[in-house]
Amino acid sequence: MNILVVDDEKVQLETLKRGLRSKGHEVAGALSAKDAIRHLEDSTLRHLKNGAKIDLVLTDYSMPEMNGLELLKRIRKDHGSLPVIMMTAYGEKDLIIDALRNRCDSFIEKPFTLDQLMQEIERAKISILENANTDQLSDLIPEFLHQINNPLTSIIGSAELAMLKSNNAEAIKKLLTGIMTATEEIQAISKELLTLGQTTKDEIEKVDIMVLLDDCIDMFKDLLLLKGITVEKDFSGRDVCLSGNKFGLEQAFKNLILNAIDSMEDTPEKILKIKVTADEKTSSVSIHVEDTGCGIPKELVDKIFTPYFTKKKDGTGLGLPVVKRVVAEHKGVIRVHSQVGKGTIFRVRFPENCGS
Ligand SMILES: Nc1ncnc2c1ncn2[C@@H]1O[C@H](COP(=O)(O)OP(=O)(O)OP(=O)(O)O)[C@@H](O)[C@H]1O
Ligand SMILES: [Mg+2]
Repeated sequence: MNILVVDDEKVQLETLKRGLRSKGHEVAGALSAKDAIRHLEDSTLRHLKNGAKIDLVLTDYSMPEMNGLELLKRIRKDHGSLPVIMMTAYGEKDLIIDALRNRCDSFIEKPFTLDQLMQEIERAKISILENANTDQLSDLIPEFLHQINNPLTSIIGSAELAMLKSNNAEAIKKLLTGIMTATEEIQAISKELLTLGQTTKDEIEKVDIMVLLDDCIDMFKDLLLLKGITVEKDFSGRDVCLSGNKFGLEQAFKNLILNAIDSMEDTPEKILKIKVTADEKTSSVSIHVEDTGCGIPKELVDKIFTPYFTKKKDGTGLGLPVVKRVVAEHKGVIRVHSQVGKGTIFRVRFPENCGS
């Protein structure tokens, strides 16, 4: 990768450059944020002439004149979603929320080892892969068609269950109600598709995250029952509201839940855990979607957010790119922890006023 390191301390800058080069990266250095901006502009021009462009910026927070946060804001304005890792010192935690709002990809607290830095860089690679594919995502229609698959899957689940209970009128009535809800969902998706491009401000609303997650689980309740999956909710904290796009957030969590359901097809233990935690200090909320499924092999973790990447016979590979887009639109970050044979945790963190 081509990495630009920004640090006003010369010795620290040289150490980082040496370390990263020893791991096979191309590294450029800048002693100030202004220097970094100039370098990024030059690199964009060079790239237009087929030169290499910067893939990642590793910047110190604390710098005279213009700090790392101001540099991050400038990068978001001029270079879109170029991945940024911010180096912070102990006690600078308060800046994290501001940096998250400006879509900082990752943080690393000083002092750190080269191995810890390499881990953060590996994570940032997910953003790089996604950026490389944003062109493919520009046509949102396949995404919407994919969203229709979620309620359809729920309808199939309810219908299958109804077949098994054909002589129980009460149970069938309940299942039909589920089918109607899922059908209404398809109607809402097609409406959204028809109004695509006419984004209005009222798309942002106050969203009670617990209610939203309950609705998502509810949509798949028949399927969960059919597959023998137990749902464990840990919504023990206070009520958390986000100001955001309810439709988008629902689609994102439904995709994560459906992937979790798929992952437990052949595992003996089938538990779907959903946990919400609010962090008062950083005014952020974290949502974990955890399964006891097949897990994701290490070498695939970087690929799963790439559009059209799928390991499923009938998969489209558009579920996680939708999740990634919605999370980014809400200035959030998403992390994956997975162990083959044990399960996977998708952890999403949003600033509470992510839609403002
Ligand atoms: N919870 C999970 N456990 C194990 N593997 C997962 C999990 N979530 C995603 N994956 C892997 O990531 C791949 C991409 O997921 P994504 O949701 O983008 O597409 P898909 O699920 O394959 O297709 P579709 O969403 O259209 O059904 C999956 O094929 C699967 O290999
Ligand atoms: Mg999926």
